[in-house]
Amino acid sequence: MAGKGEKMRYLIGIDIGTSATKTVLFDSQGTVIASASQSYPLYQPENGWAQQRPEDWRDAVLATLKAVVEEAAIPADQIEGIGLSGQMHGLVMLDEKGEVLRPSIIWCDQRTGEEVEDMLRLMPRERWIQITANPPLTGWTAAKILWVRKHEPEVYVRCRHILLPKDYIRYVLTGVFATEVSDASGMQLLDVPGRCWSDEVLETLSIDKALLGRVYESCEVTGQLLPEVAAKTGLTCAVKVVGGAGDNAAAAIGTGVVRDGDAFTTIGTSGVVFAHSSAVAIDPAGRVHTCCCAVPGAWHIMGVTQGAGLSLKWFKDQFCQDLVQKAGEQGVDVYDLINEAVSRVPAGSDRLLYLPYLMGERTPHLDPDCRGVFFGLSAIHTKAHLLRAVMEGVAYSLGDCDQILKEMGISVSRMMACGGGAKSPHWRQMLADLYRCPVKTVEQAEGPALGAAILAGVGCKIYPSVEEACDCLIREKSSTEPILKEADVYAACHSLYQKLYQSLKEDYKLLARL
Ligand code: XUL
Repeated sequence: MAGKGEKMRYLIGIDIGTSATKTVLFDSQGTVIASASQSYPLYQPENGWAQQRPEDWRDAVLATLKAVVEEAAIPADQIEGIGLSGQMHGLVMLDEKGEVLRPSIIWCDQRTGEEVEDMLRLMPRERWIQITANPPLTGWTAAKILWVRKHEPEVYVRCRHILLPKDYIRYVLTGVFATEVSDASGMQLLDVPGRCWSDEVLETLSIDKALLGRVYESCEVTGQLLPEVAAKTGLTCAVKVVGGAGDNAAAAIGTGVVRDGDAFTTIGTSGVVFAHSSAVAIDPAGRVHTCCCAVPGAWHIMGVTQGAGLSLKWFKDQFCQDLVQKAGEQGVDVYDLINEAVSRVPAGSDRLLYLPYLMGERTPHLDPDCRGVFFGLSAIHTKAHLLRAVMEGVAYSLGDCDQILKEMGISVSRMMACGGGAKSPHWRQMLADLYRCPVKTVEQAEGPALGAAILAGVGCKIYPSVEEACDCLIREKSSTEPILKEADVYAACHSLYQKLYQSLKEDYKLLARL
């Protein structure tokens, strides 16, 4: 933290998200100096599959880096570090020349049901949970590696490097093959309590350790910028790239969730309820994930709903062209118009429920076959009812995550909200009502990008520790208090919502076989 008369020091956080890459340049007080984002497509070649092109992430990162450096117009040698954050669990495979071998199979892809069965045949579920802190999961990287080995053996034989999305970007920026503990936890190849690759798991799956990069702590320096990248972006080769973190672990730092009792809910493409923990706490039923967090020597527990912002975006793209057009004409954000529409419908959406399982579900069902449902449609319902029901359905799913954390005895004294969805006062109110606790926001809206930049600042020795940096930089902005009358309505709807999955569980299997 620069004192009086000292030269200012700058940091960059890059978040490689599912809809876009966001790159933000901060000063060492956490103030945004410049920011740029670039979006890219998501490919769904089959029902339940989800892929992206690593080359799109690369192009977005290089373009946004160049844009923020130009916009900031500060001396390049004052930009000292870069922190990377990104969507977790995606599989990137490179050949011996470092070329991408196939599109990345990303976090919400659900094609690996059979591979998860194979993993359970190779090692008992309890042992998977002991080592990786989680049962085998369809969306996690290990099952995807097995899928490629089984279905595309010609690709697998040429594979020399296996990387996560943000770690592919690290390779592009620095030429280094490496990862860090928080994101590596989501590969299902890491000994999560021990914070290192698990030889037992790698041997069980016959995966060569040489394919994986070295594992760092999130704030350790992993490399420096390659000269050609420095030349392309206007940065210098002295810029250090630290480990960074998976997007949720990075969002935790960016919202100051770094001590026991701290938690946050994020509504991005996915939805997550995340609680910090200084001890390894595991749900024996495997419904929530336990991962290393970006604070050295600590972990987190998180419940994940696959289709959070994804559900609202899907509904908007398919059925709200009128609102999209109106927003364009008025020069406002279409989500502001959606919020306005939703405010005209009462809590409970006049008895309309939505199950947000467009991409299967993780918490609490771990079911790749379930799909979305509107339940209770009546001729009184308008488009605004459907929009509100979508938002409430996502909130019920996050309520499921919160319920499991409570059942595990994880006590939350401070619940923050972040991600695009947290900008909606209605969504925040739904969460506060369902959790029956205040839901707070922070001044800085950059979440994962700020978290990644803070990690870079610790790596560059600008801040003494992650916790101290958060204490200095992160400021609370708002608090949404629960409204008890609405909370009772939501509680009743939530229990019917939970019953609906149980009623449909077997039918989802039939649907998958059609
Ligand atoms: C977490 C998860 C998602 C992705 C996408 O387990 O899969 O939150 O990180 O953002």
